[in-house]
Amino acid sequence: MVFLLLFGLLGGWILAGRMLAPLDRITHATRTATAGSLSHRIRLPGRKDEFRELADAFDTMLARLEAHVAEQRRFAANASHELRTPLAISKTLIDVARADPHHDTGELIDRLHTVNTRAIDLTEALLLLSRADQRSFTREHVDLSLVAEEATETLLPLAEKHGVTIETSGDIAPTVGSPALLLQLSTNLVHNAIVHNLPEQGTVWVHTTVRPKTVRLTVENTGEQVTPEVASTLTEPFQRGTERVHTDHAGVGLGLAIVKTITRAHDGTLTLTPRSAGGLRVTVELPAKAPRADSAA
Ligand SMILES: Nc1ncnc2c1ncn2[C@@H]1O[C@H](COP(=O)(O)OP(=O)(O)OP(=O)(O)O)[C@@H](O)[C@H]1O
Ligand SMILES: [Mg+2]
Repeated sequence: MVFLLLFGLLGGWILAGRMLAPLDRITHATRTATAGSLSHRIRLPGRKDEFRELADAFDTMLARLEAHVAEQRRFAANASHELRTPLAISKTLIDVARADPHHDTGELIDRLHTVNTRAIDLTEALLLLSRADQRSFTREHVDLSLVAEEATETLLPLAEKHGVTIETSGDIAPTVGSPALLLQLSTNLVHNAIVHNLPEQGTVWVHTTVRPKTVRLTVENTGEQVTPEVASTLTEPFQRGTERVHTDHAGVGLGLAIVKTITRAHDGTLTLTPRSAGGLRVTVELPAKAPRADSAA
């Protein structure tokens, strides 16, 4: 009896230890992640059982978290760098003026004004990006075609200046969201389509369509050839095509990042497709106004 009891206890203890070993590995991985190391993975071997599924799901979550943290760090580094540039230029301008008291102050003030405006634009774009990301806006019924039309009308003088023709068409496209953010989204897209167009005789097409469950805004423009590889990186913050040149007129490279964040905050999708004849087609697809919201209207 005693032997049987001891044998049973020992057998049970070994069996439980073997069964629960994967849990130990998962606990260890959780502790490592809590301590700040996101690169550790469980990589549980063996057949696909519940433990393996839990470990695999945990590994996937860790990979996503690690990528997200790396993206945030890259963003903070880029933002600091971009914010430092106008401040450094202002300092140089002031230093030069101080060293030479006969310097033309009118020119200095003009240049300081330009640099300052750029810094304000950049800060406003960053604020907008974080506001859209928080999803703290109130949702209203919005007709995407009206919003796109308003953005286009505001930008008509700029299009004229760039020798670009804008053609708008499409149906009423009811959706739910923030009118201000959707106007910002449309403005950024039409603005890009105008300024990143051909040097002369460019065309922009702004089109809205209604699909069974979604509404679509497409902004398409003529322009230089864009490769699919480049197109896939353009929505990253501070990405400016293939060139990273700084001129007074260069954008800050946040326009499409803002569009992407606003689209995501509205549960929509953003697609960038290079046109075979050159230029880009950008499509934003948002959920159509829900029928329940319809009756509440
Ligand atoms: N419609 C377009 N056609 C061709 N290239 C485009 C188009 N829209 C964007 N791009 C490319 O993508 C890059 C990133 O665009 P994004 O709007 O994010 O920044 P930006 O226009 O350079 O600056 P800003 O922050 O002032 O908008 C641009 O520099 C340009 O090279
Ligand atoms: Mg832009």
